[in-house]
Amino acid sequence: MKVLLTGGAGYIGTHTIIEMDAAGHEVVVVDNFYNSCPEAVKRVEQIIGKKVPLYEADVADEAAMDRIFAEHKIDAVVHFAGYKAVGESVRKPLEYYDNNINSTLSLMRAMKKAGVKKLIFSSSATVYGTPEKCPITEDSPTGNCSNPYGWTKYMIEVILRDYCVSDPDMQVILLRYFNPVGAHKSGMIGENPNGIPNNLMPYITQVAVGKLKELSVFGNDYPTHDGTGVRDFIHVVDLARGHVAALNYDKKGAEVFNLGTGTGYSVLDMVNAFQRVNGVAVPYKIGPRRPGDIATCYADPAKAAQELGWNATHGLDDMVRDSWNWQSKNPKGY
Ligand code: UD1
Repeated sequence: MKVLLTGGAGYIGTHTIIEMDAAGHEVVVVDNFYNSCPEAVKRVEQIIGKKVPLYEADVADEAAMDRIFAEHKIDAVVHFAGYKAVGESVRKPLEYYDNNINSTLSLMRAMKKAGVKKLIFSSSATVYGTPEKCPITEDSPTGNCSNPYGWTKYMIEVILRDYCVSDPDMQVILLRYFNPVGAHKSGMIGENPNGIPNNLMPYITQVAVGKLKELSVFGNDYPTHDGTGVRDFIHVVDLARGHVAALNYDKKGAEVFNLGTGTGYSVLDMVNAFQRVNGVAVPYKIGPRRPGDIATCYADPAKAAQELGWNATHGLDDMVRDSWNWQSKNPKGY
């Protein structure tokens, strides 16, 4: 298939190019480099040994999207592009709603004109809000998101479901990601956040490399095995392969899948595994809880296993090793 990746220069996008190429698909990338850089795609080209057609454009620019669809006979779109910082979304809700939702609407209009009937969307476990129970199945209640970023994911899911009702030939696969970590085994690409990282793993790697002084563990009084927050960390290569599996899924209409491992690890489990596997110190202190955080969140990935034939294959040691391999080889990022 020929697949357009919006936001394909980003962390998950670049890893997905590699897995799609390995599976025999052709990839086209559109990215405005708001939160990514052309160097990431150059490195992917070195890894796969071929050029990747790359367009610098905003997905909200419908005319630009029309041109891409005119130049390439696209079979499916994976829509990664979007603002993704939780804290920033609280400070800039209008920008988040405007960017994430309007870019999806212009993408859908351009796809409609071009007759493209398959879309895979980067959703998030954040749509489950505070889960009533773990593991979380896809039919668990959604909504009650704690921030505008989460609500944009929720609202886009609603929009895409409505769109499927209007076009019975449409296939939409909503992938709810849990917590992506790790990097390609080459160490040439990886997560490269702007500024001080919000998420746990890039914070750990930046402390380990000496860029940040110490990790603040946000609370150790949660009802978990060691008091720190528990999440379903998933290796980004497994996550990327989930998109390849979704390409082969043929059912019409909108369908949702969790992409997680089914295993929860705590913040301290991650820190300890990182130190043990990599032999580097990660100084930390226990700090207060972060507002909006939940105690425990992990997936039931059975539906993706049954219907997509997909399973996560990387374990905790792979995740911490590959995260460090990327960061230690690229202390300043790209
Ligand atoms: C967050 C977002 C989620 C988003 C996901 C991926 C919230 C409520 N959720 O998930 O919407 O999809 O990132 O980008 O923000 N932690 C520390 N110290 C740190 C950083 C994190 O102790 O410096 C802890 C957190 O309290 C949490 C765990 O590590 O228990 C994971 O945090 P993080 O990586 O930010 O992911 P989530 O909060 O699960």
